[in-house]
Amino acid sequence: MQELPERLRQKLADRKTAHALRALRQFPALIDFSSNDYLGFSGNIRIANAVNNYLLSGGETGSGGSRLLTGNHPKLVEAEEYIAKFHHAEAALFFGSGYEANSGLIATVCHRHDTIIHDELCHASLREGIRASGAKAISFAHNDLHDLQDKLQHVAGNKWVITESVFSMDGDICPLLDLVTISRSNGAMIILDEAHATGVIGKKGEGLAQSCQVQDQIFARVHTFGKAIGVQGAVVMGSRELRSALVNFCRPFIYTTAPSPMLAVAAAAAYSLLDGPCDEWQKLQELIHFADELQDVIKGEGTAIRQVMIPGNEAVRSAAEQIQHAGFLVLPVLSPTVPAGSERIRICLHAYNTKEELTALTELIKTIRQQ
Ligand SMILES: Cc1ncc(COP(=O)(O)O)c(C=O)c1O
Repeated sequence: MQELPERLRQKLADRKTAHALRALRQFPALIDFSSNDYLGFSGNIRIANAVNNYLLSGGETGSGGSRLLTGNHPKLVEAEEYIAKFHHAEAALFFGSGYEANSGLIATVCHRHDTIIHDELCHASLREGIRASGAKAISFAHNDLHDLQDKLQHVAGNKWVITESVFSMDGDICPLLDLVTISRSNGAMIILDEAHATGVIGKKGEGLAQSCQVQDQIFARVHTFGKAIGVQGAVVMGSRELRSALVNFCRPFIYTTAPSPMLAVAAAAAYSLLDGPCDEWQKLQELIHFADELQDVIKGEGTAIRQVMIPGNEAVRSAAEQIQHAGFLVLPVLSPTVPAGSERIRICLHAYNTKEELTALTELIKTIRQQ
């Protein structure tokens, strides 16, 4: 076997020294306050039945090629049309993951002579797209509209504003209405990542843009399926022209096998659940309101993501272990995933969690903090 280059070896050793070495683990069946499966859709019997029925009636497991070759499976097209309607968009394009959708979208539509002004806490997939586009990138302070306005005013040429509806680490919500007004009055186009708002925010889980009724003022929205939708993949929503541009020029869309039709069937089934009266959405909302009253221990409001700050990799890891021993699955978020000093335990709320479980978790965290 050939050895790892010395540079990489050293980097691994440095991670170990910083107590930040990442490793793949499997977790025991504890009370889940960690996964992004906010609605419990990944175990939903109606979604599983939709996939079963599709397969038992002779459906294929694989798409068989790139969308531009033999992989343009009718189930992908059907899902795109249904989901575009749900999200009040002209068109949708299915990607294999949110990472591919975000990075491919930005790298395709933003040009190296453009300027991208993005929230400083934007997800790695958005950053990857920004880097690949070659555009000039400037960050604005997290959710700070004065800073955004200031940065926009000092930039000439084509401008883009890139942000998220719900931030994945803090669970806070972007002040979208004002962000849209400021961006548009400064001639900037907006790209919005709705990953953690999908299935959660809005009366049917349609996301932040629709709940603020500004979907038509946003250039592109990305809804991912790996979180509340309980599947995998993502759609870029926008104009038909945008869809055509991505089909023609977006390399991560073109040079890859199209997503499995099973994913499309599952995603469409999940959306049809959101479209009806959805008990899971209702239960999640009730727990979100309940958690909003627990601010003295668990920070965050209005979304399914909460956090408890415990600075230091070792301290946060040890607190998470204690909580796990008590039967709750929570995970520490270490630096460098978040900046050093803002290490935290991330708590995700789910339709299948009870108020009693959340109360017990909160009490436990209080005790650990007093130690
Ligand atoms: C805000 C945000 N955007 C995009 C992604 C990427 O989505 P996916 O997991 O489907 O690749 C994630 C997931 O980690 C995320 O948290």
